[in-house]
Amino acid sequence: MQKPKGTFDIIEDIGYYHLVEKTIRKMTRRFNVEEIRTPHFEMSELFHRGVGEDTDVVGKETYRFEDRGGRDITLRPEGTAGVVRAFIENKLYARPQKVQKYYYVGSMFRYERPQKGRFREFNTFGVEAFGSAHPKLDAEMIELAYRLTHALGIQPLVVHLNSLGDSESKAAYKKQLQTHLKPHLEHLCADCQTRFQTNPLRILDCKVDAHHEVIHSAPKPLDVLTEEDRTHFELVCQQLDSLNIPYQIDNRLVRGLDYYTHTVFELKTTESLLGQQNTLCGGGRYNHLVEALGGPSTPAVGFGFGLERLIVALKAQQSTPLESTLDVYVAALGEEALQATLALSARLRKQQLKVDGSFETQSLKAQFKQSDHYHARFVCLIGEEEVKQQSVTIKDQKTKEEVTVKQAQAAFYIIEKLTEDQTCVDCEEGV
Ligand code: HAM
Repeated sequence: MQKPKGTFDIIEDIGYYHLVEKTIRKMTRRFNVEEIRTPHFEMSELFHRGVGEDTDVVGKETYRFEDRGGRDITLRPEGTAGVVRAFIENKLYARPQKVQKYYYVGSMFRYERPQKGRFREFNTFGVEAFGSAHPKLDAEMIELAYRLTHALGIQPLVVHLNSLGDSESKAAYKKQLQTHLKPHLEHLCADCQTRFQTNPLRILDCKVDAHHEVIHSAPKPLDVLTEEDRTHFELVCQQLDSLNIPYQIDNRLVRGLDYYTHTVFELKTTESLLGQQNTLCGGGRYNHLVEALGGPSTPAVGFGFGLERLIVALKAQQSTPLESTLDVYVAALGEEALQATLALSARLRKQQLKVDGSFETQSLKAQFKQSDHYHARFVCLIGEEEVKQQSVTIKDQKTKEEVTVKQAQAAFYIIEKLTEDQTCVDCEEGV
């Protein structure tokens, strides 16, 4: 039996997922973002109305099926529509907090051509913030995305920024773009010829036509913005400047989902392992989606990270191995000592330490080799003498220090050492 094409098992990389998820929880807490969990499948209509019939994500890539009760169901291809549905269905708009921010971590499903950094089931971390049309919220969302990559040590990273403006600017731009492209339509790829009618903005980020002259000379969304929309964008830029977050204006950035208005942004890495899939995060403002899905008019802005891409970029930076997978490996010399290890392990586990050890009488060399396979930080050794003395010899595999202490003291010694390390890590991360 083999896994379906475009999916993967997470085994060796699980430590990276834990590290990323831990950092996500730390950063979202600082920005007062609550967690939300919504279903992995929704009624298909949600995505058709929310994300847009003519987007690739919904038009070409959904896992859509009729369930046994005859319902039209779609596995979620992205997280925003589901969170907006939950926001409306649970009347979260009626809560007294004017601005509400929600985050989620979980699988999304898109029937795409699998390649490096592109899968059919992938994990995302997303944030959706509701209730303010102020550019401060756009900037704060970009800041959160940026700080997350920074805390993970991902460099180099470029924030791409653009604005599509509100409905009026968007419609005016669409018209200008169509006028510009019309005489050259036959030179564009078949997909873009269809997009010309259905979703002309997408022609700008088509991979096939990317180098076509007519794309390079296309009008820029920023040039068509109304006065009000331009002011909004300028304020977003000013706020980012004041936060010292570097960005570059990207006139071709339009994003592939229909709901965006005003600010759109992407965080890209130049990490070569990711090739064309170097966009770690994409997001933007979507001021009309809540209303379009039946809720009260509510401005909103958010973003989504692809965790697999984030982890490829993280691995490329991580020169030292991740945290040890085991705190303590308990080794024994002789059958009597082996029996004593279970009680010592219980004492250590009671203090929240992650502990494992030998289950047979083996040479010390074989046990140290095992402890290395587990990347154990400490080896606790019990031999004949230690059994007599109720003591244990603790070997710190990182510093090579060795001490013998009473078994009752072992956990405290180890925890103290681990706490010293943790304090150092937090200082380095600035987290
Ligand atoms: P998106 O750009 O379609 O935006 O996806 C977000 C991120 O998911 C991408 O930047 C990329 O890192 C990752 N991703 C997308 N497709 C795949 C794939 N097939 N395999 C692996 N990773 C992938 C959204 O989904 C919006 N909902 C983001 C958002 C939230 N906008 C506002 N709020």
